[in-house]
Amino acid sequence: MTPRVKIINACSEHIEAIAEIESRAIPGGWSRRAFEEAVAAPGKIMLAAELEGRTVGFANASFVLDEGEILNIAVDEKYRRAGIGKALLYSLLERFPAKIENVYLEVRSENSAAISLYEKAGFESCGLRKKYYADPVDDAVIMKKNIKDGE
Ligand SMILES: CC(C)(COP(=O)(O)OP(=O)(O)OC[C@H]1O[C@@H](n2cnc3c(N)ncnc32)[C@H](O)[C@@H]1OP(=O)(O)O)[C@@H](O)C(=O)NCCC(=O)NCCS
Repeated sequence: MTPRVKIINACSEHIEAIAEIESRAIPGGWSRRAFEEAVAAPGKIMLAAELEGRTVGFANASFVLDEGEILNIAVDEKYRRAGIGKALLYSLLERFPAKIENVYLEVRSENSAAISLYEKAGFESCGLRKKYYADPVDDAVIMKKNIKDGE
């Protein structure tokens, strides 16, 4: 990762850039309002990647009881393949409370970039939801990582 990138807790000032990055990267994703609510909500983690004052990526997750879920990770296309997605993912995993045992996520089966990112971080496929996504239709791969035992 370029050393100038900082991963920080997102605040309301990041929302506009986050919503913009998301709308280009994950069509049909969250609304701006959903991001605004997530920044302040208990049981949610929202991170921003900053490069020279510019928001270039974000990641968010939720947790309840002993289970965590990664909801979104996206990096501005101009800044991809520089380790920012990996830095966001590892920072998210570090920020789950100690009580969290397993972290889950869903990813399009054709999203080989994201699947590779998650596999390198130790996530394993544990299920498939057929035709879960629309536009274009795709299966969702469910992935899981145990973060309790340092796996
Ligand atoms: C997935 C995404 C967040 C990766 O961000 P990134 O900053 O480019 O990723 P990194 O540079 O940290 O790469 C980490 C690993 O991810 C994988 N990866 C990232 N981009 C890849 C690509 N285009 N092709 C194949 N593997 C890729 C590689 O395993 C890479 O490790 P390596 O550098 O050792 O090869 C980015 O491509 C993105 O924003 N995509 C659109 C949004 C999205 O699909 N999010 C996931 C929703 S579940």
